[in-house]
Amino acid sequence: MKIRTHMCGELTAAHVGQTVVLNGWIHSRRDHGNVIFYDIRDRRGITQVVFNQETNAKAHEQAHQLRSEFVVAIQGTVSKRPAGSENPKLPTGQIEVMVQTVEVLNPSQTPPFLIEDEAEVTEALRLKYRYLDLRRPKMQKLVAMRHNLAQAVREFLNKEGFLEIDTPILTKSTPEGARDYLVPSRVNPGMFFALPQSPQLFKQVLMVSGMDRYYQIARCFRDEDLRNDRQPEFTQIDLEMSFVDREQVMSLMEQMIVTVFREAGGVQLPTPFPRMRYADAMGRYGSDKPDLRFEMPLHDVTAFAATSEFKVFKDAATKGGIVKALIVKGGAPLSRTRIDALGETAKSFGAKGLAWLKITAEGQLESVIAKFLDAKAFGAALPDAKPGDLVLFGADKPAIVHDVLGRIRLLLGEELKLIDTTAWKPVWVTEFPLLDYSAEEKRYVFMHNPFAAPMDEDLAFLDSEPLKVRAKAYDMVLNGNEIGGGSIRNHRSDVQLRILDLLGINKDQAKAKFGFLLEALEYGAPPHGGIAFGLDRLIMLLGNADSIRDVIAFPKTQKAQCPLTDAPSPVDPAQLKELRIKLDKVE
Ligand code: AMO
Ligand code: AMP
Repeated sequence: MKIRTHMCGELTAAHVGQTVVLNGWIHSRRDHGNVIFYDIRDRRGITQVVFNQETNAKAHEQAHQLRSEFVVAIQGTVSKRPAGSENPKLPTGQIEVMVQTVEVLNPSQTPPFLIEDEAEVTEALRLKYRYLDLRRPKMQKLVAMRHNLAQAVREFLNKEGFLEIDTPILTKSTPEGARDYLVPSRVNPGMFFALPQSPQLFKQVLMVSGMDRYYQIARCFRDEDLRNDRQPEFTQIDLEMSFVDREQVMSLMEQMIVTVFREAGGVQLPTPFPRMRYADAMGRYGSDKPDLRFEMPLHDVTAFAATSEFKVFKDAATKGGIVKALIVKGGAPLSRTRIDALGETAKSFGAKGLAWLKITAEGQLESVIAKFLDAKAFGAALPDAKPGDLVLFGADKPAIVHDVLGRIRLLLGEELKLIDTTAWKPVWVTEFPLLDYSAEEKRYVFMHNPFAAPMDEDLAFLDSEPLKVRAKAYDMVLNGNEIGGGSIRNHRSDVQLRILDLLGINKDQAKAKFGFLLEALEYGAPPHGGIAFGLDRLIMLLGNADSIRDVIAFPKTQKAQCPLTDAPSPVDPAQLKELRIKLDKVE
């Protein structure tokens, strides 16, 4: 086999006259009879090669045997393309290689889809033939971008004195809020390892060990319902630091993200990142991960609603609920059908309805509920609503109003093209509540994870009004995506135990679940805190990919399956027997 002298993206006018060897795949062909053109592709690009019957009849004859995705070694001379036939879109577009010899290194079956960025192909087929899918230039770029970003992260953290330390994959369940993937232990019958939902407990233990600054590009496993930005197996840039406060973690992490976005993607994020309190993010955007690429805020009209004659509003406003409004600028022409459909969508999000009104050119209110509202009082309550606007209302408990209007806001932002898709809008969301109340489970649950420290000024309410207590937690949000989250931890076991107690985890349960951490905290644990970023989500945003599956070489489908390997799959009964596992009948 002739070994390559150049990659397929490398040759330019500077190489004209040189004899070169290219190794790669047959990408496409154009047969002009006497002259046959092929594009040869490798990871670096595409080069046009020319088989000319007049100058090389033997090679021209062989060219007829070549098919898509055959692997070839081509030797030839670099020549300038004839005037007018240059391709300015290709880095190699000034030249072509006049073939002297061609060697087929391996033929190929006809691929089930074209190896092109715009090929029309279902995701199921792409994932089954992932090795072909990954040959597409777009996918190769994403794989390389992921590599570059991971390297840039390592370089940044190494310079800052972090140690890269591995933590176990076969471990004990980590309480991050999802279901665990379990692994049975053959040598300990009836016992199970859990795959880590994150390295949280180990990184805290490493701080107790005096490692001072730890990081890891860590695989995490969570058995949860999958979405476009969620995989059962995903990767975190995970880190932890000793003797730091929130400010230090946040400012260093802001620098890191800015640096790696610039180095891996050529994107300059605007600095400093704004900060927004959780309460303000929820109140204004109905989300703890606000998309700030467009405004359209939620307006509080509870006081106005309380004085109105519309029962839905009045009841909500006077019985502990709230009423909020979304102004759709220039939305008055929206059809009744469209508005009704929005109402149905709001219901599917958990609302009881989505009241609306239009403001006519004359400033009149037009709506089935207009007769219950005082136009003047309305104008005073919502001065931003102008003639030609549509106003949508949510009336309910705050959590429902925020969630529903927050989602309607995003939906309309997209539909009405209000989102500036070229903008980069990072924001830190801070001062999360430590706890939430689960009406379903009738108990407090943690918002972030059970190890986040309460804010010092809120410690006094820990027993009296636990829901008022804010955590020293922070999330980094980019364009409406939660890309990272972390906190300063409880380094004192007494505070940690009090919080676990609030979560309904008593001392014995705590000991059984993560006794090792609680014990470690008693041996001189330094104050510490950290964060973890979703690496896959970072690449999804930086690479402008449609889904998280596009940035993982071998992802799972929405049903948590791998079409390439057919995992998960049944196992040999002998294996189960060895593990002393008996299966219930699977329907
Ligand atoms: P958290 O659970 O917020 O924090 O996870 C950190 C970041 O990981 C990403 N992420 C995911 N990405 C893809 N698929 C998933 N299923 C998935 N789940 C989470 C998100 C998220 O912001 N131990 C803490 C971190 C800490 O406190 O230091 C933790 O795991 O981008
Ligand atoms: P109704 O009085 O049920 O005919 O509702 C009148 C309008 O109020 C309809 O547009 C409903 O969608 C809307 N609506 C009903 N309940 C709510 C609610 N909780 N929040 C917002 N709008 C509501």
